[in-house]
Amino acid sequence: MSRIEPLPMRLRAPAQGFPKGWYRVADAGEVLPDALLPVSWLNDQFIVFRAADGQAQVADAFCPHMGAHLASHDGCLRNGRIVCPFHKWEFDAAGGTLAHIPYSALPPGEVGLKMHATRELDGMVLMWYHPHGGTPEFEPFETPLSRNQDGWVLYGVKEWITTCPMRDMLENLFDGPHIVYLHNSGGAPVLKSIARTPYGMRVDYDQDPSQTDAGVTGFRSDFTGITLNAQIFEGTAFTTQFYNTFTPIDDERFVLHSRLHIKDSGSAEINEAIGKAFTDRFMFEVEQDLKVLDYKRHLVKPRLCAGDGPIHQYRKYAAEFFVD
Ligand code: FES
Ligand SMILES: [Fe+2]
Repeated sequence: MSRIEPLPMRLRAPAQGFPKGWYRVADAGEVLPDALLPVSWLNDQFIVFRAADGQAQVADAFCPHMGAHLASHDGCLRNGRIVCPFHKWEFDAAGGTLAHIPYSALPPGEVGLKMHATRELDGMVLMWYHPHGGTPEFEPFETPLSRNQDGWVLYGVKEWITTCPMRDMLENLFDGPHIVYLHNSGGAPVLKSIARTPYGMRVDYDQDPSQTDAGVTGFRSDFTGITLNAQIFEGTAFTTQFYNTFTPIDDERFVLHSRLHIKDSGSAEINEAIGKAFTDRFMFEVEQDLKVLDYKRHLVKPRLCAGDGPIHQYRKYAAEFFVD
């Protein structure tokens, strides 16, 4: 096997910054009451925590006073306030407003933490990001699971760090031939329809069940922008939900995080068999994809041919989320 290093991203993809959208920044279970969770995403650092009412919140990690990282040293969340480790200024955890300075009256004007719009969905904490700031332009896709949690079980969670150009990861879902020629699958699913939605896009497929390991009859794929993707698979005797999220750590790498939920079949044994079949196939395909995607260049003008799938249609959609 050849040993290659990925070229730096600036030599592999146009510099367009990170797309606007909703990004997974933590798992809900990691965000405990009265604690600050420091995270590093999008060439930046944030703190994730819960306000007194339990709502997850995301704020910039750096104190507006003199820039200390709020989760460094003994920085903490106490009695509903975030206390900076440096000069012990206190900020209200619900809205980030400056609430107390131990050695001075509050200064006039608005002082506070930079807060980011936050949502909790299917066990994940999502943060809105736009290079120019501002309020969310759309809401994340509401999955069947988020609408009704009854009867779903979480089978497993997987995570990869990849050096693939980020937009090319989703482009891969529209690349039919690679499913046969890279993954050696018996056949690629047949695209039925692509429709725009308030959160982004829904893609419906037909699948010949004899061509899949798990007897899938059809699936649909809901994109929230180009940073979240929910795939709902239907089979003769099951429904599963794969939720994939794509969050850049920096310009070179992003995290692909995938969680598989299964509609409870009523039998732990059958759930296990369904979960294992999906996870095995999914892991196999992602790992094969990354062996190629981690090193690829984003070609602005790919030399496509008949049968390559709706790559240009996807690119037109993806371009909407890159902001100048
Ligand atoms: S830097 Fe945070 S209180 Fe001074
Ligand atoms: Fe693939």
